[in-house]
Amino acid sequence: MTKTLIVSYTPRVGSNTKQLVDYFIDTTKDKTEITVLDLTKNAPDLLLEEKLNLYVKRNFGGVVLTEEEQQVMFKNDKMVNQVLEADFIVLASPIFNMSVPATVKAWVDVVIQAGITFTQTEMGPKGLCENKQALVLMTSGSDFNIEPLKSVNFATPLVNACFGLMGIPATNITAFGLQQYPDKIEEMLASSKKEIDFLSKKWF
Ligand SMILES: Cc1cc2nc3c(=O)[nH]c(=O)nc-3n(C[C@H](O)[C@H](O)[C@H](O)COP(=O)(O)O)c2cc1C
Repeated sequence: MTKTLIVSYTPRVGSNTKQLVDYFIDTTKDKTEITVLDLTKNAPDLLLEEKLNLYVKRNFGGVVLTEEEQQVMFKNDKMVNQVLEADFIVLASPIFNMSVPATVKAWVDVVIQAGITFTQTEMGPKGLCENKQALVLMTSGSDFNIEPLKSVNFATPLVNACFGLMGIPATNITAFGLQQYPDKIEEMLASSKKEIDFLSKKWF
């Protein structure tokens, strides 16, 4: 059976993004083995001075870390391993301030690891993750499908590029404008759920 990693950041009580990711889980849990990383309860450690320098020493410098140093990196390394073990990755998040919430970016910074999920070549970075696919489920208050916001949607291009850096093609299912079009919330979520059905039939 395939393995699917759900990475979810949906902290708001009554979250619409959670509705979508829960729908994905409910409709696919018999077809794939699901692991959930709830970033609202288990956030990655930020790359502050100690962790960033251990990362650079190990991943760029090729230095083997001591047991103690490995312990410091353990939590974040577990998150990278979850990506390596998955066939499919679903990232669910709202847009915050034109981009992804800081907690989601922190996860991205942790799972993109030189020598593990990507490598540097003369031609530029090359993804090391093969045969994986990602789904990005994203919602927003305003409509990022049209200008003037379309040009300042840094969220979906960012996550797509970051998955791409690891060699993982990403599909986006978005419900943009949930506060801008309050009368259409149910219609938009239903449409996203149809897209989820379509994709999950392709995947599983
Ligand atoms: C801190 C914060 C920042 C937000 N920034 C934006 C934004 O830049 N653009 C936007 O359209 N909506 C923004 N929103 C609204 C959310 O993206 C929108 O309500 C989303 O659907 C919330 O998802 P949820 O229902 O899963 O909580 C923001 C909400 C919060 C709480």
